Amino acid sequence: MIDPYYLEWANLLLRWIHVITAIAWVGSSFYFVFLDSNLVKPNSPDLLEKGVDGALWAVHGGGFYNPQKYMVAPKKIHTKLHWFFWESYTTWLSGFALFTLLYLFNASAYLIDKSLMDWTPTQAVLVALSFLLVFWVIYDRVSQWVGFRENGELGVGLIMFVVIAFASWLACHWFAGRAAFLLVGAMMATSMSANVFFWIIPGQRKVVGAMTTGQKLPAAELAMHGKRGKQRSVHNTYFTLPVLFAMLSNHYSFLYAYAHPWVTLVAMMLAGALIRQFFVQRHAYHQNKASNPLPFALIGVVVIVGVIIALKPESTPITQKFADTSPVGYLQVQKIFEQRCYACHGAAVQMKNLRFDSPQEVKINAQNIYQQSVVLRQMPMNNSTQITDQERELIKRWFDAGAPTTP
Ligand code: HEC
Repeated sequence: MIDPYYLEWANLLLRWIHVITAIAWVGSSFYFVFLDSNLVKPNSPDLLEKGVDGALWAVHGGGFYNPQKYMVAPKKIHTKLHWFFWESYTTWLSGFALFTLLYLFNASAYLIDKSLMDWTPTQAVLVALSFLLVFWVIYDRVSQWVGFRENGELGVGLIMFVVIAFASWLACHWFAGRAAFLLVGAMMATSMSANVFFWIIPGQRKVVGAMTTGQKLPAAELAMHGKRGKQRSVHNTYFTLPVLFAMLSNHYSFLYAYAHPWVTLVAMMLAGALIRQFFVQRHAYHQNKASNPLPFALIGVVVIVGVIIALKPESTPITQKFADTSPVGYLQVQKIFEQRCYACHGAAVQMKNLRFDSPQEVKINAQNIYQQSVVLRQMPMNNSTQITDQERELIKRWFDAGAPTTP
């Protein structure tokens, strides 16, 4: 067993890397979507002669940029050709490492909620991993079979919405709340990276390979690589906001502390996709290439406001339910900690590097103990040790009395 102190560091460093790589990936992907919708067809004959299909001017960091897009491929590439794939791969690798460290190694604490599904850690881990795989297979097939028909992309969007809603429902019925949300995000994010790995980059490699060796690819095949690459990168752009919401959600326990957490998840992800549509269409709108995108943003915001209102907790403080408010001493809460917390924060195990089996440790962490067990009701984790409301109330009164370490 690794010292929990080092595990915390591993967690922090991996998370740091993951956020940085994700910024690089999403940032470059947003940039290229922006570029694509703002390119203007040049009218100078020599640019058209070279095969330039669109160009744009931008100013940044003290200089001017003039990117040009060649449709299919230029005749020759004179200098180094820059690829964009490590952003995606490192995001997936660091994310998967983090997921493994946090959720798969600690399946019984994080993944399993025995009141939902009483499975062994191995079962839970295998089912969680199969979410990633099964979703990719379904999404990939649907994009292939439906995507290239007339209005096919709308069809892909609708089908995938239903699939994601079903996966969210299933995940929330099988796994502990925070793990369920994260798993749905990880499942979509895995498909985003798989798009880059299995389709976008291999397609581009074939085109570049044909160019540099001078070998002629059939025109239909060449066009298909371009079309499929574009299709998958457009899908990725719609996944971005929903995935980021799912990734952040596990820091906000109020999201899944309610009766139908999967509805919250689906609604918020839908709002994210709609707001992304606003931005995509907005760039094109300025070029008179698309209709006004504002309705998408408005619907997205209305959905978010709806969720905020729906999740508002009823304000009945626990104190109203229990008349006695006299101060509580250490002895009484110590019994509660022993029964309800030591299992994970004691001599044997120290989750989050915390232990509550001495007055000193309890004193140092009093604020956080109160926060986690009384205010947020997040601890004990998934209430696996079955703390009662009375006991939470006792912790509150102890905390209100200044968290004494005397009987
Ligand atoms: C089944 C195991 C388990 C039990 C029982 C348990 N905890 Fe935890 N606790 C955890 C885990 C896992 C974490 C780390 C959560 C995270 O990373 O967000 C944690 C974290 C915490 C934290 C730190 C939260 C933070 O993010 O700063 C506090 C405080 C805490 N627990 C208090 C308690 C108290 C008080 C009890 C008993 C009433 C309790 N825990 C019972 C597993 C448990």
